[in-house]
Amino acid sequence: MRLIIQPDYEALSEWAAYYVASKIVKANPSEDKPFVLGLPTGSSPLGMYRHLAELNRNKFVSFKNVITFNMDEYVGLPEEHPESYHSFMRNNFFRHIDIRPENINILNGNAPDLESECIHYEEKIKQAGGVDLFIGGMGVDGHIAFNEPGSSLNSNTRIKTLTTDTIAANSRFFDNDVNKVPKTALTVGVGTVMRSKEVLILANGLAKARALAEAVEGAVSQKWTITALQLHPKGIIVCDEAATYELKVGTYSYFKDIEKNNLNCKNLLK
Ligand code: GLP
Repeated sequence: MRLIIQPDYEALSEWAAYYVASKIVKANPSEDKPFVLGLPTGSSPLGMYRHLAELNRNKFVSFKNVITFNMDEYVGLPEEHPESYHSFMRNNFFRHIDIRPENINILNGNAPDLESECIHYEEKIKQAGGVDLFIGGMGVDGHIAFNEPGSSLNSNTRIKTLTTDTIAANSRFFDNDVNKVPKTALTVGVGTVMRSKEVLILANGLAKARALAEAVEGAVSQKWTITALQLHPKGIIVCDEAATYELKVGTYSYFKDIEKNNLNCKNLLK
């Protein structure tokens, strides 16, 4: 696993955007061989989406031959609801880039048969040739997508009940009213994310410090589903300084040292 430590959220976001753009550019995708990107919601990726839209506007990268699969969606929330992940993606990313609408995939939390919706989603990923790069955030409890503590590290796309902690954390988007937060969601599994060719996780702020320490230094465990990343052949976490506060000094210095030549994101697109 790689750990890229950036000074602050802005630098982390820019680095992630350049990294993603460089992967797309290097793959040189076409209609026949598109690049398949897995995408998260949440506050962590907002800066990255802003930078990616700018790189798209300035013609450093195109999303014309990129297929996207989002990680998750609430169950029972209308797609037009401002806090649905459909709305989030449209407003924060898709309407700012040149992606084709037919290349966007987001789980339908209002499907009449939620179980077959999940099975179908896995099939669509397979048909697309698998995910080339899955980007994710992580919860304070180290969850990835909506794979709450206790989720199987081999899990596939399915319905999950949200923990009280996650409902409380996400109530900030629902007038701070936990009763307005949906109690279940459809989510890709930990296994779904781990099957992708590469995984990039974004972690910023002090609130993520414990989860980051578990992710990097902890044992692989269903208690912190992000720890599955340790078993991935190509896993990267990009974080800010604040998120490193629970890392051992030795761990921090080690990654600072081995990544010292890789911190300038501008080099990635050269
Ligand atoms: C939600 C999402 C996750 C996200 C997490 C952290 O639970 N399902 O995909 O990583 O929140 O969100 P934030 O980035 O706002 O801290």
